[in-house]
Amino acid sequence: MATVIDKPQTKVARPQVRQTQCFIGGKWVPAVSGKTFETIHPATEEVIAEVAEGDAEDIDAAVAAAREQFDGGEWSKMDARDRGILMYRLADLIEQEADELAALETLDNGKPIRDARGADIPLVIDTLRYYAGWCDKIQGATIPVRGDYFCYTRREPVGVVGQIIPWNFPALMVAWKWGPALAAGCTIVMKPAEQTPLTCLRMARLAQKAGLPDGVINVVPGYGPTAGAALVRHPGVDKIAFTGETTTAKIIQREAVETMKRCTFELGGKSPNIVFADADLDAAVDGAHFGLYFNQGQCCCAGSRLFVEERVHDEFVDRLKAKNHDRKLGDPFDPQTEQGPQVDKAQFDKILKYIGYGKQEGAKLVTGGNRHGDEGYYIEPTLFTGVTDEMKIATDEIFGPVLSVLKFKNVDEIAKRANRTNFGLAAAVWSRDIAKAHKLAAKVRAGTVWINCYDVFDAAAPFGGFKESGIGRELGEAGLQAYTESKTVTVSLS
Ligand code: NAI
Ligand code: MG
Repeated sequence: MATVIDKPQTKVARPQVRQTQCFIGGKWVPAVSGKTFETIHPATEEVIAEVAEGDAEDIDAAVAAAREQFDGGEWSKMDARDRGILMYRLADLIEQEADELAALETLDNGKPIRDARGADIPLVIDTLRYYAGWCDKIQGATIPVRGDYFCYTRREPVGVVGQIIPWNFPALMVAWKWGPALAAGCTIVMKPAEQTPLTCLRMARLAQKAGLPDGVINVVPGYGPTAGAALVRHPGVDKIAFTGETTTAKIIQREAVETMKRCTFELGGKSPNIVFADADLDAAVDGAHFGLYFNQGQCCCAGSRLFVEERVHDEFVDRLKAKNHDRKLGDPFDPQTEQGPQVDKAQFDKILKYIGYGKQEGAKLVTGGNRHGDEGYYIEPTLFTGVTDEMKIATDEIFGPVLSVLKFKNVDEIAKRANRTNFGLAAAVWSRDIAKAHKLAAKVRAGTVWINCYDVFDAAAPFGGFKESGIGRELGEAGLQAYTESKTVTVSLS
């Protein structure tokens, strides 16, 4: 039975911030330098906590703890099924604290409480349970080689993994990273995003309570070019799993080459959302709206290039416009709020800059285009029509509530235009002609294609990018394999 958390009826109280230090080898410690950084509530811009600012020395200590536990600690000796039991226990503890964790996510990230409770935290729990079930099902194969030999493969954990995550789904990214790593038997050093370290630290506390041995999970909050880069360079780390910006991933891949680390990347996108005239337009309008504005537009797979077939274009835009006018922006702790603030000033400024480009390049502004209110990083749901393939708002990842509508004439033209991007994370097709939809799904160069739906995620279904949207897949069995090495054992029988 999937986890369901009751929808709050009234405004949710602000949670207490409890964990703000580094979590290394089972201990809560300040950064060696003694430095801290501020994390803010993006709806009011007020500082909510001072968090330990880890750097290379803290990463050293965390890697040493993870290494020790991996190379000979309890974790490496534990039966696989017992690992699974500990993971289920962690999922149970998160479920018990789901309301508080959701509120902490809303405080740190600014996302509406209805989303944190309705989507993020239930998916966290589901992902951990899904991977808990995998622990004792990681199998090799027997290989029919020539000659008098018995040959088999073992799937072994890749080792100590460095995990670097972004701020858009802070807790969910923790689950996507911890789930397969723990199931495979790896140990972890995680660096959460500097904008949103709090739920990750809280989850580390719950992992400790669940009984995961010291050193299995270590968390070092801090900045990318310092703590993040130290993790990437560290010779004691076997693999880096990264989610974030493509340009950051390119730096990481270059740095990781020195020590030949395995790397998996889940990066940005400019996903085409393609609506044919023969679609169920009610569903398609909802899907186009949700597919872009959900999470303040801060989704790697946001359907930010909305292609609408010419015949229904004007009606479609009118309906989107109405939905944007109805969208409720406000206090993210209010259960009625549908859209909260952007995560920080840098993102807020970037989005407004792109709205400026859209106007300059001649797109037509249909809704929004401005800051909402005078406190917090709110931006009105923005809709541009008359967008052409070359405009910046059609090529670059904006990561905000800015939807670009492009017109198309027919199915022959659309596959080519949909693929005219360096990204390839996701796409969607809306049509009642299911054969047409399947054919187009095969032509689109993207890791995920949704047909007559958007943003449907499941822990069992692999997710990741073609082209500059990533390397490797997360979730599902593919996500687990990325945390294993294959070992071939050949035995002479003569
Ligand atoms: P980012 O890629 O800079 O940050 C993601 C993570 O990487 C953070 O934990 C950060 O501290 C770390 N990091 C940064 N530089 C690093 C380095 N040199 N070595 C190791 N780790 C490093 O993303 P940022 O700046 O927060 O967001 C900028 C843009 O990136 C957004 O506007 C959006 O377009 C895109 N983005 C995409 C995400 C996705 O899910 N695909 C998530 C977050 C951002
Ligand atoms: Mg950055």
